[in-house]
Amino acid sequence: MQHATDEPGPRHAAIILAAGRGERAGQADGPKQYRKIGGISVLERTLGVFLSHPRISEVVVAIHADDEELYHAATQRLAQRPRHVVGGATRQESTLAALRAIEDSIDGVLIHDAARPFTDAAMIDRVLDVVEAGQGALPALAVSDTLKKATDGVVETTVPRTGLYAAQTPQGFPLAIIRDAHEKAAGEGRFDFTDDAAIAEWVGLPVRIVEGSPDNVKLTWARDIAMANDRIAGSNAFPDVRTGNGYDVHSFEPGDHVTLCGVAIPHDRKLNGHSDADVGLHALTDALLATCGEGDIGTHFPPSDPQWRGAASRIFVEEAVRIVRARGGRIANADVSLIAESPKVGPHRDAMRTAMAAMLGVALDRVSVKATTNEKLGFIGRGEGIAAIATATVIYPGEVP
Ligand code: CTP
Ligand code: MG
Repeated sequence: MQHATDEPGPRHAAIILAAGRGERAGQADGPKQYRKIGGISVLERTLGVFLSHPRISEVVVAIHADDEELYHAATQRLAQRPRHVVGGATRQESTLAALRAIEDSIDGVLIHDAARPFTDAAMIDRVLDVVEAGQGALPALAVSDTLKKATDGVVETTVPRTGLYAAQTPQGFPLAIIRDAHEKAAGEGRFDFTDDAAIAEWVGLPVRIVEGSPDNVKLTWARDIAMANDRIAGSNAFPDVRTGNGYDVHSFEPGDHVTLCGVAIPHDRKLNGHSDADVGLHALTDALLATCGEGDIGTHFPPSDPQWRGAASRIFVEEAVRIVRARGGRIANADVSLIAESPKVGPHRDAMRTAMAAMLGVALDRVSVKATTNEKLGFIGRGEGIAAIATATVIYPGEVP
């Protein structure tokens, strides 16, 4: 008896058509298949569905000759960049160019519009099941709107919608049959077929309808792209939430007040350091910068630079906030823990939170200040200085890939 693994099953390839110009979507921001929705290009999303499907062993992408750089950028994060060919002037010609690039050992081929990024694995399975039975497969949805035929804006008749379907992709076919059919159509100068199922029908291959998906829309107009973007943002699949931490410590020296989290507190000593030595705000600045890999407070405000001597540390926080916001970041919350034997922080906690909320531009309940002594242990316990630990959470646009 043979093991199942010794008997290779049918091999399937997918063609992703991405050579169009996307004229209806408006080209100001480039062809629609390279536009980002939810922070990731339409093409990368589409490829992801097919590259991760266990029954598909090869993916070939048809791209426009002008788009090599865009293609490179859109596929650079993929574990393996799929093979690509240069498409033609029409969708049909792009399909033929890709069909010619597929090895003969492939049994079935799926032909899919790059502009449909919401295809799902279950639909691919439904299509492949039909292809493995030797037929063409067309995912489609039964038409649900009432259909009217009109001339010059005047209705002539109501078209019965029974048996009418709206075609989607991926459409699937036995490779040899659809490739021969495409070659025949091209050979006869027939470039008027609007999809591959129409070519299959033309050569007499039975094409079976499988259930499409209402989510599997083709992005055609700018509005479709905006809606797709909103839909992803709304579903918030993997929002780009980032957390940063910061730590700082300053020693005491003779003085009459300390500044902690933006609030001056009378004390019998002061903290030593450049600026006003506000440990809480220094730790907070580092935590904010950490959420976008922007180094630390020393990178932006070198202690050697005399202009920061005696400076109010709120300017450091405000600069970090500006950097975070420039990248589209929204601050979700900030938390500072002060570790000190004295002064007592409790009476000033609300003033500190109010000051920090103003610097960060967030509501009061998103800001927290906590304090603890060090139980008389170590340098803090001996009253030699104050330490602070801060955490900040920032939500950036797009998704975690
Ligand atoms: N396509 C292609 N080669 C062409 C034309 C279209 O590979 N010469 C691809 C498109 O990139 C798209 C799919 O076929 O993924 C469906 O076509 P369509 O939605 O019409 O896209 P475009 O032709 O790019 O858009 P438009 O018609 O608005 O210019
Ligand atoms: Mg087109």
